[in-house]
Amino acid sequence: MNRAMDIEEYIEQHIDAEPDYLACIDHEAHVMLLNPRMSAGHVQGRLLSMLAHMIRPRNILEIGTFVGYSALCMAEALPPDGRLHTIEIDDELEDRIRENLAMSELGKKIVLHIGDALDVIPQIDGRFDLVYIDADKRDYVAYYDAVFDKLNPGAFVLVDNTLWGGKIVQALERGDRQTAEIQHFNEMIAADNRVEKVILPVRDGLTIIRKL
Ligand SMILES: C[S@@+](CC[C@H](N)C(=O)[O-])C[C@H]1O[C@@H](n2cnc3c(N)ncnc32)[C@H](O)[C@@H]1O
Repeated sequence: MNRAMDIEEYIEQHIDAEPDYLACIDHEAHVMLLNPRMSAGHVQGRLLSMLAHMIRPRNILEIGTFVGYSALCMAEALPPDGRLHTIEIDDELEDRIRENLAMSELGKKIVLHIGDALDVIPQIDGRFDLVYIDADKRDYVAYYDAVFDKLNPGAFVLVDNTLWGGKIVQALERGDRQTAEIQHFNEMIAADNRVEKVILPVRDGLTIIRKL
């Protein structure tokens, strides 16, 4: 076992357990789907829940649902009248996502949209206190631009995979398109004086952005 795995296991043993339905969703994803690591999983899921509790959002937008794991984690922090909108482009996942969301009462607070986020975002009314960007890395800049005017002042944007497994610093010359687009996104955020920002080296990198 390598050191990173030791640390992940140690963390799992010393933080809150994931609720049973989330463990079940994660297990099913590992058994049935090709890229189960796309699901947030225990550690990132608890982190998203904790950050959402700190932010105390009423309205959340998630871009990239996959099996619904992270949506259910963030929904833990919603007030009774709160809503989480989540967008997934892969319509083959729709039945699985709906079944997974129905495994918890929290699913009633979650609105699933099937379609390309760039088409769906302009159709969602209202403003958001928290946005989680976790879809196609090549479109991170476009997602950010599409949501920016829908953010309340003081709202947070969480962006996953912004260190892209370390590729972001290893690639002295621009590498593949996804790496190049994440580099471009990170440079754009660094220069954006409308927001405060910090990058946590958790898993694949998590950027936390706060609209001023
Ligand atoms: C990393 S997974 C999301 C994982 C999920 N947020 C979690 O943590 O459990 C990325 C998802 O984004 C979806 N996706 C990719 N491009 C998209 C787009 N343009 N609009 C909506 N969803 C998209 C993919 O089909 C995939 O299911």
